[in-house]
Amino acid sequence: MGEKFMKMFASPFSRVGLVAAGVVLGTATMHAPASYAAGEAPPIPSQSWSFSGPFGLFDRGQLQRGYKVYKEVCAVCHGLRLLHYRNLGEPGGPEFSEAEVKAIAAEVEVLDGPNEDGEMFDRPGRPSDRFVSPFPNKEAARAANNGAYPPDLSLMAKARVGGPDYLYALLTGYKPEPDGMEMSEGMSYNEYFPGHQIAMAPPLFDEGVEYTDGTPPTIDNYARDVSAFMMWAAEPKLEERHRVGLRFMIYLVILAGLLYLAKRRVWSKLKHA
Ligand code: HEC
Repeated sequence: MGEKFMKMFASPFSRVGLVAAGVVLGTATMHAPASYAAGEAPPIPSQSWSFSGPFGLFDRGQLQRGYKVYKEVCAVCHGLRLLHYRNLGEPGGPEFSEAEVKAIAAEVEVLDGPNEDGEMFDRPGRPSDRFVSPFPNKEAARAANNGAYPPDLSLMAKARVGGPDYLYALLTGYKPEPDGMEMSEGMSYNEYFPGHQIAMAPPLFDEGVEYTDGTPPTIDNYARDVSAFMMWAAEPKLEERHRVGLRFMIYLVILAGLLYLAKRRVWSKLKHA
């Protein structure tokens, strides 16, 4: 039933999706001028994500790799303060095992206290702790980053137009600046950042993070995986929502069937009366 149902619905849905994608792509290419003035950003290309569409689900392996990229690269500057380490093991997320979550949490130092002597102390993290931010406050974060503030990434995938498509475009959008463009000191040219001058140096390099599942260690894959991870961080209940949506659709189909049968019965009685 499940599969048939999906097929029944998947084809018209994906056809609508294809037509929509065609229209979007068509307009995108039609209007895309060759170069962009300062402040204008080119349209953000759509990526295909396992979690998009009304019934999409996260790719477990991708979320685990994305966490690794965040941990080894982005966490030096960006916090994820709305997440707790235990979230990494909960259903619908990267689903690390309990032992893995404990080990991940134990790697960080958490400021706790005061103890009996009234002093604060560091202790190893626990799954119930929030993600520890790299800087104690905004001022320290700015001071370490040339005056620019590396924003918390917890809700970033929801906070920017384009969501994960934008994040992926940003992370892969570093290029040499066009001839004649004056860059301020310490800024990098990025095709997709508004104004094109970003205070974040290109964070990703091929082979910068070791992948153990055979996924090629490229900037492209790192960007894709960490963008999916940020999407989960911003919407940890996405899978649950999609599952409820699917169940509701099935319910509606059954209800429609029952109503149809009921209608036939009522009418057949009337006809034969
Ligand atoms: C060395 C520090 C540093 C590292 C490492 C770093 N960033 Fe950043 N990031 C920054 C700073 C500083 C800004 C603010 C840039 C600005 O406003 O010009 C920023 C901004 C951002 C933004 C916001 C862009 C916007 O539209 O406002 C995102 C998203 C982001 N970083 C993601 C990441 C991801 C993902 C990684 C890891 C792959 C990462 N960063 C690694 C320093 C860093």
